[in-house]
Amino acid sequence: MMGITLMTLFEGAYAADKGKGIGSWLPSAGTEHANAVDWVFFFINAVSIFFFLLIVLGSAYFVVKYRQKDPGDLPEPSPSHNTKLEIIWTIIPIIIVVVMFIVGFANYMNAVVAPENAYLVKVMGRKWSWTFEYPNGYIDKDLHVPVNEDVKLLISSEDVLHSVYIPNFRIKRDAIPGRYTVLTFKANHLSPEEGYHLFCTEYCGTEHSLMHSKAFVHERADFDAWLVKASDYVNNLGPLRAGEKLYLERGCKSCHSLDGSSGTGPSFTDLYGNSHPLADGTNVTPDENHIRESILYPKAKIYSGFQPVMPTYKGSLKDPEIDAMITFIKAQSNVSRAEAEQVQAEFEANKPQEEEE
Ligand code: CUA
Repeated sequence: MMGITLMTLFEGAYAADKGKGIGSWLPSAGTEHANAVDWVFFFINAVSIFFFLLIVLGSAYFVVKYRQKDPGDLPEPSPSHNTKLEIIWTIIPIIIVVVMFIVGFANYMNAVVAPENAYLVKVMGRKWSWTFEYPNGYIDKDLHVPVNEDVKLLISSEDVLHSVYIPNFRIKRDAIPGRYTVLTFKANHLSPEEGYHLFCTEYCGTEHSLMHSKAFVHERADFDAWLVKASDYVNNLGPLRAGEKLYLERGCKSCHSLDGSSGTGPSFTDLYGNSHPLADGTNVTPDENHIRESILYPKAKIYSGFQPVMPTYKGSLKDPEIDAMITFIKAQSNVSRAEAEQVQAEFEANKPQEEEE
């Protein structure tokens, strides 16, 4: 029994030490913190297994040993108290749980109190996507961080409770609307090519299970190069492709379909340039100004049959991004598709050829 427990403990400690997570049970450990968490997990597991076996096997042994062998057997008189024994079985478990608390709490504090000068990434959750804002204001759908540097995630939500979970880093924390929570970590390995998983672990509605991003760990120089290139995406992709990226990554697609079906919001198909009834009984024929207004002040004009639930993008979309979004919406409508595609074609034609990397 002791042997099994110790084996479990040692295998865990060994695997954690090798940065592999515990055997192949757990995702690979991408931070020092992950190794520490795995160790605590294994320690608690080993203690639990030890006492489980001690109690179950002990009970089974006594049941057999002191069974009624003859029908006439009666219980022998036995003591009802033993102060020494009671003190021992109180003190030992207290010591064990206090040790569990201390190591667990120390790890918890390490994950939620960021060191000074940690690299700050703001994480925002919404139904049903994550976005990550970097210090230069660029917002991406994935988390990118430099290796061997402290990173601080400042987490919040635009609507309901979500929860950030990066299994390889062994960190998880709720995203709460109207409040900030913090997670901090220092990745000590580069991520695999395809990145680590980043999940939502708070049930938040029908597409909760699709609320999934990636976490990438780069060398510092690669990280800087990535950020410069990614931040300039409107100039790299052109208005139509940049608008498409915004549509896919910034929450538009959750409510606005491209196949004409109504979601939480009106479909983008044939929206531009066609008359639509509003809730106040008037009509609107969307042009550039109307789309811009709806992005910045979504409650200004409510379409008939829809609720005023869209969050404003004022402050989170810059002018070139709004222009790109307008071009993308125009490309979904028969009356303006040719114009939008023309804008993109001109961009492609005039784009300076990028050198091969
Ligand atoms: Cu967000 Cu589940």
